[in-house]
Amino acid sequence: MTKGSFSAFLLHIHPRLIPAFSAEVRFTWCLGGLAFWLFILEVITGLLLVLRYVPTISSAYGSIQEITHLAPYGFFVRNIHYWAGQAMVAIVVLHMIRVFWTGSFAPPRDLNWTIGLLLLVGTLLVDFTGYILVWDDRSLWAWTIARNLSETIPVLGSPLASIFFGPSELGDFALVRVYVWHVILLPGLLVGLLAWHFWKIRKDGISRPL
Ligand code: HEM
Repeated sequence: MTKGSFSAFLLHIHPRLIPAFSAEVRFTWCLGGLAFWLFILEVITGLLLVLRYVPTISSAYGSIQEITHLAPYGFFVRNIHYWAGQAMVAIVVLHMIRVFWTGSFAPPRDLNWTIGLLLLVGTLLVDFTGYILVWDDRSLWAWTIARNLSETIPVLGSPLASIFFGPSELGDFALVRVYVWHVILLPGLLVGLLAWHFWKIRKDGISRPL
């Protein structure tokens, strides 16, 4: 890296000038920022849970019980992961309502609104796949109902169901499929979409409060 490009890089990561109004503390502003910090908390606690969770039909439920009752601070880490996940869904929805309320979905922010919709779908899917991983009765039925429902989508239903839920017989492959979506693919997708979302906010500028 030449001296010139290095200083350009340093300049780039410096905070840029922002309009004064966007630094004002407002009740509904920065809900998006809160959703982002909850996502970071999910990644940290999720990495800790991965150390103890076993994604097989015979061991998944037992490993969750071990995390909850035997692992040091396991109860705490699991609860933070669970509640931060629920809070993230609620905060993302409130953030979306704020964006809608202030009319910030209109051009030039229309593309970022669409990216936001994908973030919403991604957030709901991570929450749903996490619910399946517990592998108790509710997870089993949630997997069965969701798989059967998605199969009813015309033409694309069957391939979509096997891509997302794995084989139709319940077994280790099906659980591992949901596990891979929950810990790798969906969080990876969210990271990519978030980078795009934040880059667009810088490009479009933050909207003026009503
Ligand atoms: C993981 C989920 C999301 C995160 C972490 C996130 C993060 C952010 C952040 C930090 C901002 C800056 C301003 C603020 O905090 O209000 C923002 C703005 C914005 N977000 Fe999101 N967002 C998410 C989901 C969504 C959703 C679901 C939508 C709509 C469907 C959306 C649409 C927008 C738009 C249009 C802006 C620009 C608003 C303006 O200029 O006033 N975002 N987002």
